[in-house]
Amino acid sequence: MDIQWGSEGAHKFTTNVGLITSNGPHGDNIMAAEWTHQISYSPGLIMVNIGFDKATEENIKAGKEFGVSLAAEDQNVVSSVAGGSSGREVDKIAVLKELGVEFYKGKKINALMVKGAAMNVECRLVEAIKLGDHMAFVGEAVEIEVHDKNAVLYHAGRYHKIGEPVQKPDDAERESIKNLVEKHRK
Ligand SMILES: Cc1cc2nc3c(=O)[nH]c(=O)nc-3n(C[C@H](O)[C@H](O)[C@H](O)COP(=O)(O)O)c2cc1C
Repeated sequence: MDIQWGSEGAHKFTTNVGLITSNGPHGDNIMAAEWTHQISYSPGLIMVNIGFDKATEENIKAGKEFGVSLAAEDQNVVSSVAGGSSGREVDKIAVLKELGVEFYKGKKINALMVKGAAMNVECRLVEAIKLGDHMAFVGEAVEIEVHDKNAVLYHAGRYHKIGEPVQKPDDAERESIKNLVEKHRK
């Protein structure tokens, strides 16, 4: 079965937005990818899922490295520009620079990184797997900068801030759960 873009089911997911930077046949480029996940601690691996038609897909295949700048709560415009057109047709880096967004050169990779992000991770490609209608690129972190900013959340096509924590169960409820776990221990 399909889970179509923009469908009720797809809108149940909540994600981060990775600002994925790359350099290759399309020059320096940036795109927005909500499918950006940490998938291993040691080594630190990040997977991004990129549609086949994207300039980023060709850039990463050629350059074998990519940058992940996790969009901060005040970077929704950066995400919209990065996700709003293709590096095949538009120099989105130039657009963003004109909007006042600053970049720095990756220390370990040949790609630009976005200043003001919640976190910047420079990645070297270790796996490229065709999964469904996207390419899964797995990158090993080779340089990490963590900043004192929250990452923006993406849900049902809108940007959100981290909100109220959900109440944890109280001691009595935790005790009864513990007892049930003991009762059903295999
Ligand atoms: C918030 C947001 C999240 C997105 N997430 C993804 C994603 O995870 N994977 C993907 O292939 N495209 C995603 N897109 C669409 C791409 O960013 C868009 O197609 C972009 O134009 C591709 O740029 P490129 O051709 O320069 O690589 C997203 C767009 C937005 C605005």
